[in-house]
Amino acid sequence: EKGTYPHFMLKEIDEQPFVMRKIIQEYQDEHDDIKLDEDIRKAMKECDRVYIIAAGTSYHAGLIGKEFLEKIAEVPTEVHVASEFSYNFPLLSEKPLFVFISQSGETADLRSVLVETNKLGHPALTITNVPGSTLSRESNYTMHLHAGPEIAVASTKAYTAQMAVLAILAVDTARAKGLTLDFDPMKELGIVSSAMEALCDQKELFDQIARDYLSTTRNCFFIGRGLDYYVGLEGALKLKEISYIQAEGFAGGELKHGTIALIEDGTPVIALATQEHVNSSIRSNVQEVITRGANDCIISLEGLDREGDAFVIPKVHSLLTPLVSVLPLQLISYYAALHRDCDVDKPRNLAKSVTVE
Ligand code: M6R
Repeated sequence: EKGTYPHFMLKEIDEQPFVMRKIIQEYQDEHDDIKLDEDIRKAMKECDRVYIIAAGTSYHAGLIGKEFLEKIAEVPTEVHVASEFSYNFPLLSEKPLFVFISQSGETADLRSVLVETNKLGHPALTITNVPGSTLSRESNYTMHLHAGPEIAVASTKAYTAQMAVLAILAVDTARAKGLTLDFDPMKELGIVSSAMEALCDQKELFDQIARDYLSTTRNCFFIGRGLDYYVGLEGALKLKEISYIQAEGFAGGELKHGTIALIEDGTPVIALATQEHVNSSIRSNVQEVITRGANDCIISLEGLDREGDAFVIPKVHSLLTPLVSVLPLQLISYYAALHRDCDVDKPRNLAKSVTVE
């Protein structure tokens, strides 16, 4: 039920801080260690490469998951769009582990890959919000997102839950491999939860940004580097699916290879600047688009912020910034759709669960 909320999407955005705390609770044992099925731990330790298979928003969570698995756990990881993978299997490593990420656990494009990998006898882990779902039943292992039912077609809390669970999986794998780590996932996710809460309390600001930048525009670009680029892809997907504004996410460095030709007077460009090692490069990209007339909107991280930024997110661990920086983008999309009289929870031409290929 929506309760006092006008839309499920807004309710689900607001639930994100609680979902983080729920995940901490569910994945922590009484000794403050990570609570995880021993078989999953073993599968992660034994595989020589992880193949993440997903679609849409879950694919975007997978891109962040790859960073976690490689940077934290040193597990080589590939991320694939399910619909492409199903007819275009790459050369597989000797001991692959397939990780299917799906809110619904029912997405047909993923299922057709799973049917194939099961035939080949490769182990599969499904990360889903619905443990009894088809993908969960047909794979060897399941990790539950604990996000609660997600009703709005636009995925919000499932995305942040997917990233949180992937971070926990990465840390668990690192520990199982005996790597030394300076990263307590539960503590860091607690900080993420508080940061999310602070953002949810500032909705008028995102309402205003949506009004200022997106009420009448035909298009909008998202730019970022590294993790911010991946979050930009998610921001663009969210905006296009519910507000019908033509939106695209680009890597900052790719602008000069073509995209910058699209920038005109007043083109909104939403830039993410949460990564220290690329802060000055993304700032130069913003200057380049401003010079061509863009209407820039910079979302930065506390400590990396500069005068004129539209919004500064509270400080969280640099690997976990996507879990927080996506909230402004979700809220901006929500308000943009609202201002443009779109059906926020049920956008045209889309279904919550895509059970056909
Ligand atoms: O249930 P799934 O996570 O497998 O769904 C995948 C996509 O269909 C889904 O994320 C879609 O992109 C959302 N509508 C995005 O908000």
